Amino acid sequence: MCGIIGATGDHDALEIVLEGLARLEYRGYDSAGVALITEEGIWRERSAHGTTSVAELVKLAESAPAVRRTGIGHTRWATHGHPTAGNAHPHLDCTGHLALVHNGIIENHTELAAALVARGHVLTSETDTEVVAHLIEEEIDGGLGLAEALRAALKAVRGAFSLAAVHRDEPTLIVAARRVSPLVVGLCEDETLLASDIPALLGRTRRVVTLDDDQLAELTPGHLRITTLDGDEVAVVERTVDWDLEAAEKEGYPDFMSKEIREQPHAVADTLLDRQAPDGTLVLDEVRLSDQSLREADKVFIVACGSSYHAAMVAKYAIERWTRLPTEVDIASEFRYRDPVLDERTLAVGVSQSGETVDTIQAMREARRWGAKVLVVSNVVDSSMAREADGVLYTRAGPEVGVAATKTYVAQIVALELVALKLAQLRGTLPPEEISALLGQLQTLPGLLERTLERSDAVDAVAGALHGARDFFFLGRNVGFPVALEGALKLKELSYLRAEGYPGGELKHGPIALIEPGTVVVAVATRNRLSEKMLSNIAEVKSRGATIVVVASDGDDATAAVADHVLWVPEVEPLLSPIIDAVPLQFLAYRLARLAGYDVDRPRNLAKTVTVE
Ligand code: AGP
Repeated sequence: MCGIIGATGDHDALEIVLEGLARLEYRGYDSAGVALITEEGIWRERSAHGTTSVAELVKLAESAPAVRRTGIGHTRWATHGHPTAGNAHPHLDCTGHLALVHNGIIENHTELAAALVARGHVLTSETDTEVVAHLIEEEIDGGLGLAEALRAALKAVRGAFSLAAVHRDEPTLIVAARRVSPLVVGLCEDETLLASDIPALLGRTRRVVTLDDDQLAELTPGHLRITTLDGDEVAVVERTVDWDLEAAEKEGYPDFMSKEIREQPHAVADTLLDRQAPDGTLVLDEVRLSDQSLREADKVFIVACGSSYHAAMVAKYAIERWTRLPTEVDIASEFRYRDPVLDERTLAVGVSQSGETVDTIQAMREARRWGAKVLVVSNVVDSSMAREADGVLYTRAGPEVGVAATKTYVAQIVALELVALKLAQLRGTLPPEEISALLGQLQTLPGLLERTLERSDAVDAVAGALHGARDFFFLGRNVGFPVALEGALKLKELSYLRAEGYPGGELKHGPIALIEPGTVVVAVATRNRLSEKMLSNIAEVKSRGATIVVVASDGDDATAAVADHVLWVPEVEPLLSPIIDAVPLQFLAYRLARLAGYDVDRPRNLAKTVTVE
């Protein structure tokens, strides 16, 4: 989720790169850097000043040499390594003649780094990226040019990447390659540009070529050559972009929320990357708590706010089922002011997309005062919570701009379920085969999410039929209950409609008095051990005149038969189902808000991060 920009041609590459970086900044990156090929060799500057990094770079660039026709730049959203200037890209090889920028995750960087160090390389950063610079260096030492050296180096690399590199000895060349992470080339008469995102190019050109997976591009002034990573020639297919800058930042989506909903398969896949050793054991490297202290925990206490709290509720079911550890979940602002029972054998888990929510920060401090070990699940590397915690497990959803949590929420559930499986592994509460099977099921989620996303038109049709309704109940049982709460929260915050989330069995203890013709009941009724009971709960509200919408597993005709509208989803292991079932409810809230004419990215009265009590 980093930003890349490159330029080679007759114009000032530094100016183009800095302008491109400024256009990418809207995502809120943590650091930025630039490398130029000058008459003296590679010139590089980096800055880690959060969102003012590019402005800092502009100041630093005043000392850049005058002639600079080729350059690459990068804005970083940290995944491996802290957001420091030393970890900011571009990274250099040992000779200092090669500079490289990267977006993505090099999955096998640990083993590559160990091998490189054994062969005498000096690695200076904590990033997964730097290994690639040194791998290319070895190929260049062996006599290859930059393009062939990159092609050869990538044979050793596993993971997702878009990469761009320059070398002093080929001063007008930028080489680039992609697998999974995006990369586009911009064409002009006398210069050729490269970027991870179209907005970075828009000040210069609207003629673009999108690279496909496993392609390598060679950019020289006014020329572009594309080959596959195997070396086969690829035809260059150019298109003209007619987006304005705002549309381009949203990559053609009408708003950030729809873009972020569509990014969920990636968010989940990236959060799962790199977590399993070849022998199948779970490796959560960023969890700095020893296996011993995790094994000794006799209780888990998860604390969070809003959507993060709903992710925590899902995790409770998984942790208790898989590890048999008693698990409490609390809202951070409540936890702080009561007398929670926890001690040095408690594992306190703070869940926060931003890592800056003040109630959760204070709750974690409170937990530490009680002697608990603190683990944080956060999307922002080096956030306040991450810095204070004993251990941190990052979701890798990338920056989330829309106020409503979507991709970070599903990534949180995945991360917390990984923690649950790690605890189960350490405690021996699940047989290894079962852990492998569950990890295998987690790996199927990105594909299932893609299939679920394809069904947005069907949700839109249901939203169209519900437009005008004012009162909504969301029902669920077991893990379906937090899904119901999250569905209701999305609807409230985006559509300003009254929406309550309830456990299906609880309604008859009071709230059922509110059901009348015109009330909409959205039942999370995917197959699980309580499906039959859920059907009875649906019957209770149907007989009182409610309009029934069900989220149902593909092929479950019995559930569909009781509903007025069905939102079908692919079936998955019930404890993983909240990740899939969230999607139609996100679409529903989104569409109802849009039908009412509301701004889904900036709902009224809300802030993305709540840093006040
Ligand atoms: C959900 O859509 C909201 N944006 C909100 O409930 C959010 O989840 C909550 O404020 C917690 O934020 P955090 O994850 O950054 O701590």
